Order: sequence, then structure tokens, then C-alpha cells
Amino acid sequence: MGCIVIGVDNLFSGSLDNMTDFIGDPAFLFHNKSITNTLFMEQLIKKHSPISAIFHLAAIISVPYSMDHVAQTMKVNHEASSFLHSKAIQYECRTFVFAGSAAEYGSPLLRPVFEADAGDPISPYGLSKYLVSQAIDQSGYGCSLRFFNIYGPTRAKAGPYDGVVRKFLERTQAGLPPIIHGDGMQLRDFLFLEDALRALTTAAGFMRGWPLSGVYNVGTGCGVSINMLARLTVRMAKRTNKPIYAEARQGDIRYSVADNSKLLRDTGWIPGISIKEGLAKTVAGMREIAAPLEREAQVVR
Ligand SMILES: NC(=O)c1ccc[n+]([C@@H]2O[C@H](COP(=O)([O-])OP(=O)(O)OC[C@H]3O[C@@H](n4cnc5c(N)ncnc54)[C@H](O)[C@@H]3O)[C@@H](O)[C@H]2O)c1
Repeated sequence: MGCIVIGVDNLFSGSLDNMTDFIGDPAFLFHNKSITNTLFMEQLIKKHSPISAIFHLAAIISVPYSMDHVAQTMKVNHEASSFLHSKAIQYECRTFVFAGSAAEYGSPLLRPVFEADAGDPISPYGLSKYLVSQAIDQSGYGCSLRFFNIYGPTRAKAGPYDGVVRKFLERTQAGLPPIIHGDGMQLRDFLFLEDALRALTTAAGFMRGWPLSGVYNVGTGCGVSINMLARLTVRMAKRTNKPIYAEARQGDIRYSVADNSKLLRDTGWIPGISIKEGLAKTVAGMREIAAPLEREAQVVR
């Protein structure tokens, strides 16, 4: 689109490896800084104004981590996000798109959740996201996209807070059984990365129409149990392993499926990739990423 893109990330859970395709591009300016550095963030926004869109995705992303690090989670996810939203208004940025979360819905509801169902989050992560979504909604400026479980290939190194899809795929592709926390009956709404990215650009009004205002669920609307995900990943690895069951995780939501009709109604966005297709694309992408690394390792050996 001929725009300059400015990235800010302190690499807390992110990795430069994810930016290898564009890190040297003169149209991409990267700052290894924390969004909690308010002086820096305000100067950056001021310097580059008018800005066509702020996509605010930086966050402490792990629910278990947020349970043990409440103050840090609130500082990054709530305080810094509210500050950025207020500066986007002050410097008349065309729009502000915030990554909200399914964790904003706390109590288990045995049906897909509507945007208005949020308000009872059971983790500091969910609470921090909910407070920002509410403030955005009430301000009438910008939008919060409540993403459900996003998955896809990544170059980032594996870590203890990886999502369940990556954990299952890494184990099953290595011939190991997936490890399920709890009884595996938890329902999740798995959204492939490309569909999530299309929702972000749609919300900013980059595809057509105007930037969105308010709160929107972004999910497929289809619930997949963790047991089913385990079966699919085992089958994809052409194995017959039975999963290992471990203790349930604190702060884990039981049922989490989106009613995505609001986003569909207001923009025409629909998810295009099924869980089976998405898993196959993720495995293919992971292999593509691993191949040059393996070649490099062989040269070093
Ligand atoms: N992946 C999902 O399933 C999912 C679901 C719902 C919402 N989200 C939201 O989407 C966004 C992107 O998540 P992701 O899954 O791509 O995870 P991610 O870890 O790749 O992205 C989060 C980024 O925020 C950065 N970050 C953390 N603290 C920071 C700080 N103080 N200053 C600057 N950068 C900081 C991390 O280094 C990381 O690169 C997050 O806001 C997350 O809460 C993700």
C-alpha cells in the first residue's frame, strides 16, 4: 500500500526471527522499546502524525503468567494501552485497532458468546483486556477485536507459554503424545492467523469502508474440544498415540466460542480456513521455517 510501517516491541515474548522478511526494509522502522515508556511512545506518535492506523497488539499474552504477575500485566496491558488510545485520539490518528481477547469472557456459557456477554474475566490477563475494550467502546473511537485462539506457523522459539496448537503439533510431529490439561472437554474457537490478519486490516478500513468503532468478536464460531484437537494433530502426524492427561490449569476458561455475527454484519468478514486446513498449513509452514535452520545446523556440525 506504499505506507511506512513503524513497529514497537520490547521482545518480551516476541522475536526478531519473526521479522526476517522485512527487518531491513526502508519502509519498516523498528524500535526495541516497551510501550510502558510513555515519553517515548508519545514522541513517536507525535513525530509520525498523521498516522493512518495504530494496531495495538503488544501485550503480556499468557493467562498463567498473568496469574503470577498481576501488576506487570495491568501495567502493560491496561495502563499502557489506555495511554496509547488517549494519544491516538489526541494526535488524531485515523483509527486505533486493539487486540482484545476471548479471555474477557469469564464464566462458562454453553453457547457462542456475544460481545455483550463479557464482564466477568477470571484472570488478570482477561481483566486487563476487558478494561481497555470497555474504554474503547465508551469513547466511540477505535475498536477492540476480541480474538479467540489464533494459531499458525511462527519462527519464534518454543517456550512454556506457547498456545495449545503449537504445543500439540510440536509433540505429535516428534512422535510424542499430546499433553492435555484437565479432561480435554474444554471447547475452543481456533482461528487461523491469515483470517485474524484480514480482520485487523478490515477493522482499520484498509480493505473497504470505514474504520470500525466498538467491540467485535473475531472467531470462527465453531467449537473444537481439546480432545478433538489432540486427535487431529495425532492423525496429521500419522500416529496412533493416546494423549497424556495432566492437572487442569488455573484460570482456564471451560467453553470459549465466538458469535462472530456482528463483524460479519458490519464488514462482511468471514473466516476462510477450517481447522483441518489451518493445521495442515501450520505444519507446512513450520517445516518451511525449520528447513533452512536444519541446513545451517548441519553446516555448523
Ligand atoms: N494468539 C492468540 O490466540 C490471541 C488471542 C487473543 C488475543 N491475542 C492478542 O493478540 C496480540 C498478539 O498476540 P500474539 O499471540 O501474536 O503474541 P505475541 O507474543 O507474538 O505478541 C505480543 C507481543 O507483545 C510484545 N510485548 C510484550 N510486552 C511488551 C511491552 N511492554 N512493550 C512492547 N512490546 C511488548 C511481545 O514481545 C510480543 O512480541 C496480543 O495483544 C494478544 O493478547 C492473541
